[in-house]
Amino acid sequence: MSTKAPQGKQPDEIRNDFPIFTAHPQLVYLDSAATTQKPRHVLDAIRDYYERNNANVHRAAHRLATEATVQFESARETMRQLIGAASTSEVIWTRGTTEGINLVAASLRELQCERHEILITELEHHSNIVPWQQLAAKIGGELKVARITSAGEIDLDDLDAKLGDKTLIVAFNHVSNALGTLNPVTDICRLAHARGALSLVDGAQAAGHLEIDVGAYQCDFYALSGHKMFGPTGIGVLYGREDVLETLPVWQTGGEMIERVSFEATSFNRLPYRFEAGTPNIAGAVGLAAAADYLQTLDRAAANAHEHRLLALALSGLQQIEGVRIMAPDAPRSGVLSFVIDHVHHQDLGTLLNEQDIALRTGHHCAMPLMTRLGVAGVTRVSVAPYNSEEDIERLLNALAKARQLLA
Ligand code: ALA
Repeated sequence: MSTKAPQGKQPDEIRNDFPIFTAHPQLVYLDSAATTQKPRHVLDAIRDYYERNNANVHRAAHRLATEATVQFESARETMRQLIGAASTSEVIWTRGTTEGINLVAASLRELQCERHEILITELEHHSNIVPWQQLAAKIGGELKVARITSAGEIDLDDLDAKLGDKTLIVAFNHVSNALGTLNPVTDICRLAHARGALSLVDGAQAAGHLEIDVGAYQCDFYALSGHKMFGPTGIGVLYGREDVLETLPVWQTGGEMIERVSFEATSFNRLPYRFEAGTPNIAGAVGLAAAADYLQTLDRAAANAHEHRLLALALSGLQQIEGVRIMAPDAPRSGVLSFVIDHVHHQDLGTLLNEQDIALRTGHHCAMPLMTRLGVAGVTRVSVAPYNSEEDIERLLNALAKARQLLA
């Protein structure tokens, strides 16, 4: 009987790819939802770009400019493949998820449309609340909010009931940054489209963990950040369905997004350049493509199973600690587990954990309305990546037990 050889790098081979753990051998890094660490492959790609190919793109005839342009556009193609977009016209470079969402909101502000309602959920990050609040105020529309269930999942009945023929767009996250809830993207997009509304997915917390397929989700927009998927900060992608992007007004204006300019009028470039004003973050795009390449070297299924095992270990260990309350313990999740401890302030806990070299995030996690809904001031969040080990979780649990004793 033949056993199938594992495809791709296994979790125990991954940690050595990340130089930060050599610089900080004692570090237990459980804050990957805030930003992931960077593999050598990404760091080398950025350095190599600056050392060998640095020039501006799409502007000059000289050799370096051509090489930089080829590398930049090939990075776009790499991202197209990674997220399953049909064409590179649908892949817009942004600074990150926040800018992607702002781009769509700013563009919709200029669109003359009969629909004035925007639907989000209680599970959203401020980045997926405030741009829509601003848009609603600007167009005299209404921001509606779908509830979450007591299990911490989006209440699909409530979402459906709040959709109507005035809904312009439904914006929601793929994975909650604060609770880790994994949301049914395809179902929500289907509900939105059944009412003729657009759909936007905040994919910030998903792209480093899940294999993204915008074609399968049938979403109109999908926004992601490079730095949460092993890439550099300051770069991200907004996917937009080509026929939808074609109808959207431009947002930032300046160089590159134009076709022809006179003092009387300007005509605009084709997609995706129409939404990319000014010199882009070329090294960032190169670094993000290297991160996408790196992801492809992993056994993604094994990495995912490894993360689930670590979170399950954390969950059962946390449940042994007196006074711990896990947020959304039974919801389907990815990458994140959050909790509170009775009578212990999350900030004090974070400080004591830091003294034991455990890095994690405490607080409202840029989701203040969600904290209000849950009746807490903040939570302590454990977020994992494939470079974490069972030993990291054991050290966390020991450190927590110590901190609990000190703070009780
Ligand atoms: N949005 C990031 C987080 O959840 C910064 O920590």
